[in-house]
Amino acid sequence: MQLQTFAEYALKEVLSRKNNKVIKVLSAGCASGEEPYTISIILNEMLDFQYSFKIDAIDIDYKMIEIAKEGIYGQYAIKDIPGEYLERYFDKIDDERYRIKEVVRKNVNLYNLNLIEDRTYEILDEDYDFIFCRNVLIYFSDDIKRKLIERFYIMLNEGGYIFLGHSESINRITSAFQIVKANDFILYRKPL
Ligand SMILES: C[S@@+](CC[C@H](N)C(=O)[O-])C[C@H]1O[C@@H](n2cnc3c(N)ncnc32)[C@H](O)[C@@H]1O
Repeated sequence: MQLQTFAEYALKEVLSRKNNKVIKVLSAGCASGEEPYTISIILNEMLDFQYSFKIDAIDIDYKMIEIAKEGIYGQYAIKDIPGEYLERYFDKIDDERYRIKEVVRKNVNLYNLNLIEDRTYEILDEDYDFIFCRNVLIYFSDDIKRKLIERFYIMLNEGGYIFLGHSESINRITSAFQIVKANDFILYRKPL
């Protein structure tokens, strides 16, 4: 699973050479919040007390951001979450629904923003360690993809990673990133 590669490979690699103790993540095209909340759970599990973290999560679809803010998920959405984590990070509402706990929410900032509007980049930071943009590039022309990837390059710390969807590649668009193979996944890393 790609998020396992994030946890076991990329996060460990970034932590091994990080000067400050803050991890910053952007979830670009976060839909109804499963991605940023899962990353928040992973960081809660993996980081020791010296570290803090912040996850900015954006989506163009207002309704998706409202669902993400509500943070209530049905059986299907939580089907891959191990029982131990379900107990630790969710409150059971009834047999069908679970509410994500405050400890997971508190580091996730949700915004209804469009990735291809300039004003989005006035709101977002320029020092992310990880950018997740999975299954979103499919919506854009090569020209827009190129502009977006240039933005991501600027917004990433040196040595930071981009995670794309399984079938997505930016090889045709740019050669600015190092290509890292970890498990069965291709990750893109901004050179140090
Ligand atoms: C297929 S979903 C992927 C969700 C999540 N990243 C994942 O892989 O599970 C694509 C998401 O990208 C969002 N999206 C599409 N165009 C966008 C844009 N220009 N700016 C921000 N989000 C966008 C859609 O609203 C949708 O929620």
